[in-house]
Amino acid sequence: MSDAAAAPATLLVADDDPAVRQSLERALTREGYAVVLAPDGQAALERLQAGGVDLILSDLKMPGLTGLELLRHAKAVAPDVDVIMLTAFGTVEEAVKAMKDGAIDFLTKPFQRAQLTKVVRHALERRDLIAQNRALQKRLDDLLRQGNMIGTSPAFRKLMTLVQQVAASSATVLIQGESGTGKELVARAIHDRSSRRNGPFIAVNCAALPETLLESELFGYEKGAFTGAAGRKEGRFELADGGTLFLDEIADLSAVTQPKILRVLQEGEFERVGGTKTIRADVRIVAATNQDLAALVREKKFREDLFYRLNVITIQVPPLREKREDVPVLAQHFLRLYAAKNNRQLDGFTDEALSCLLAYSWPGNVRQLENVVERAVVLARGTRVEAGDLPDAVRERSVMLLHARTGESGEPEGVFQIRVGTPLAEVEQRLLEETLRMNHGNKTLTAKMLGIDPKTVFRKLKQGEADEAGPGESGGDRAPVR
Ligand SMILES: Nc1ncnc2c1ncn2[C@@H]1O[C@H](COP(=O)(O)OP(=O)(O)OP(=O)(O)O)[C@@H](O)[C@H]1O
Ligand SMILES: [Mg+2]
Repeated sequence: MSDAAAAPATLLVADDDPAVRQSLERALTREGYAVVLAPDGQAALERLQAGGVDLILSDLKMPGLTGLELLRHAKAVAPDVDVIMLTAFGTVEEAVKAMKDGAIDFLTKPFQRAQLTKVVRHALERRDLIAQNRALQKRLDDLLRQGNMIGTSPAFRKLMTLVQQVAASSATVLIQGESGTGKELVARAIHDRSSRRNGPFIAVNCAALPETLLESELFGYEKGAFTGAAGRKEGRFELADGGTLFLDEIADLSAVTQPKILRVLQEGEFERVGGTKTIRADVRIVAATNQDLAALVREKKFREDLFYRLNVITIQVPPLREKREDVPVLAQHFLRLYAAKNNRQLDGFTDEALSCLLAYSWPGNVRQLENVVERAVVLARGTRVEAGDLPDAVRERSVMLLHARTGESGEPEGVFQIRVGTPLAEVEQRLLEETLRMNHGNKTLTAKMLGIDPKTVFRKLKQGEADEAGPGESGGDRAPVR
């Protein structure tokens, strides 16, 4: 949107020659611009600092602050305001210098009115484009921050159905999942879909603060509660009143803080640190951890009663390797996001690059994928991200190694390679054949290793032979042991 349509752009004209000032004022006012005049560089700078200026037209040679000096100061004071230099005939070198220092254009005196309006219009259009671009980038950022979750896989859809159901209730939710799977995003999604969506969403990272600080952060403190407590401070529980409190990294709660959280969960009340007044807050708790909380309970590192209070509803966020179908859409989503952020024109990924992304195991999950794509966007030289733009570790996985182990030596044996993109049926067939060969034709052992029924081994081997023999021929009962 052009601001010029709403309010006329304000042009600041700096020139020590009153005749030039006057003629510029007349010409530009006739074009519908608001014009302010300055007789020298210093006056221009002061006017600029007062604000409201959209574009500067400055003479190069002025007493006091010269045009070049004004340009340099202007870039520091108002980097978004462009400067057009007005130069006398025969000072091209200086004009070039001004351009190098950041002037957007220059006009050699004497100039035609048409030239003047064209240069001014271009400068203002560019300014609008930059403003638009910024607004778009901000919207992209907001989209991501708003908990805009992306995915199409069955695992993702199942997760989102659960999120929707859970959001409708006020029950405490425990979100579990590996690091980088999107637990915080899930917590926000629950809040955004709940009746509390207009209330606050307050996040606390329980691992980030030492015990005492965490308590005053959660429950607030009264004036004089400890040295340095100059005034009263509301805690996150109070701040989250009417909304959702997200307790991240809940497994890291200390043994001292755990019972205090338990009390809030049970009774909905607490006291500020150093205070006696009981405070009630209407807060929905969503907690998250990447640790196995049940195991910590067994090891007596986490209170069982608190575990059960938190664990009213559990949401397990699947690791990325269990929803590989989402890799392309997520990668494309991050590509668009970071291409816009970095002002890059990128259409997508080459087939090879996409194969690498699909084959990789993503131990760092969606966050790692996001980082890999961001890096690739910066490195990419072509119109698409290539395999070469990906980190070595991701690229190396393009040849998948399938390991089968023998019982005796413990050494990996019977390793074979499968190209990325091999049809699954073929992968299955080869894995079956190789395992059977390693087990010297023992189908029971093979079935056990592969975790399938021996009958399935028979059936699949028969199927494989039939396929090899081609249509119309049935492939006997012989297993393809070579
Ligand atoms: N389904 C998704 N769609 C879009 N972005 C996602 C999705 N899942 C995760 N992300 C992004 O991946 C990054 C990591 O997500 P998030 O911080 O929620 O993970 P986490 O499980 O809380 O990780 P950690 O355990 O390390 O705290 C974020 O930038 C998030 O926006
Ligand atoms: Mg997190």
